[in-house]
Amino acid sequence: MSKKKVMIFGCGGMLGKAVYEKFKERYDVLATDIDVNETWLEYLDVRDLNAILKRVADFGPGLLINLAALTDLEYCEKHPQEAWLTNALGQENIALAGQKFDIACVYVSAASVFDGKQEFYNDADNPKPVNVYGKGKYYGEVVTQQMLKKYFIFRAGWMMGGGIKKDKKFINKIFKQVSAGAKELFVVEDKHGTPTYTVDFASSMYNIVQGDFYGLYNMVCTGSASRYEVAKEFIKCLGLEKEVKINPVNSAYFEKEYFAPRPKSEKLINLKLQKRGMLYMREWKECLAEYAQVLKKEKLKHASHKDAEPQRKE
Ligand SMILES: NC(=O)c1ccc[n+]([C@@H]2O[C@H](COP(=O)([O-])OP(=O)(O)OC[C@H]3O[C@@H](n4cnc5c(N)ncnc54)[C@H](OP(=O)(O)O)[C@@H]3O)[C@@H](O)[C@H]2O)c1
Repeated sequence: MSKKKVMIFGCGGMLGKAVYEKFKERYDVLATDIDVNETWLEYLDVRDLNAILKRVADFGPGLLINLAALTDLEYCEKHPQEAWLTNALGQENIALAGQKFDIACVYVSAASVFDGKQEFYNDADNPKPVNVYGKGKYYGEVVTQQMLKKYFIFRAGWMMGGGIKKDKKFINKIFKQVSAGAKELFVVEDKHGTPTYTVDFASSMYNIVQGDFYGLYNMVCTGSASRYEVAKEFIKCLGLEKEVKINPVNSAYFEKEYFAPRPKSEKLINLKLQKRGMLYMREWKECLAEYAQVLKKEKLKHASHKDAEPQRKE
């Protein structure tokens, strides 16, 4: 019997790595991105509807997964039209392809669709985004729900994963600082959320799309924390708690660098997944411990490759 086919958009990023690795075990995968940073990636821009329709028609997938996004909040604030074209219209284009060829679609949304005034948000709470990125992600949710019957929307929290090369977010920013020798860190304690490990997210997505319980789901690691608590736990996982001091600060400390408005709380609850017996996400601390080991191994490997390189004579 021939393998099932899946086409993935924006697969070159931190989540794409885990999704590709999970799906390639059983699927024939066509992985695409505008950043062709792997041999298994093909160039495709989600802003280009005709290119999407043509490639979907040629490949004939049974599932479309959209991971393409501009996820840098400050970049999105500075370039609202570009952010909308990728984060919102990109998803509308993929939903159009799903509609035209009657293919189920997966859209990955974010906790940033909420305004952060509540402490916790379940799947049914009303989105009210406070920044350009969140507005684009919310548009993507709405258009998917309006256009398609067969869709899965999975809302992620603070993403962690992908390794040194691909992780653009908080954990790798901390890892880079300590790898460069920082002995003191400053981390905000007034922002709260739910870490989401790419490996768990990808395998949970894989399990759920085998069935047909379509709809919108919050899908984050269990538990929640402030940025400060996550940083403290991460430093502990790296075994550096005696060497690195972490100072809790207020968001105002970083207001120039991180000027995009951010919700105070982005804590999601996996209410629907839990009630339907489909909660496959582990606790964030367990995932973070695993990811810390991945980063440490990658760093060692990188260092040993460097040592093995022939030294250039002056
Ligand atoms: N990262 C988070 O904290 C987070 C949290 C919640 C939800 N999410 C969602 O999770 C999904 C995956 O994001 P990620 O965390 O893996 O981010 P990522 O590492 O930035 O990956 C996104 C990928 O999409 C690519 N891309 C950008 N514009 C594109 C376009 N027009 N056409 C095709 N590909 C394009 C990016 O390329 P470039 O690198 O060249 O831009 C990147 O390779 C996104 O839907 C995101 O909104 C992310």
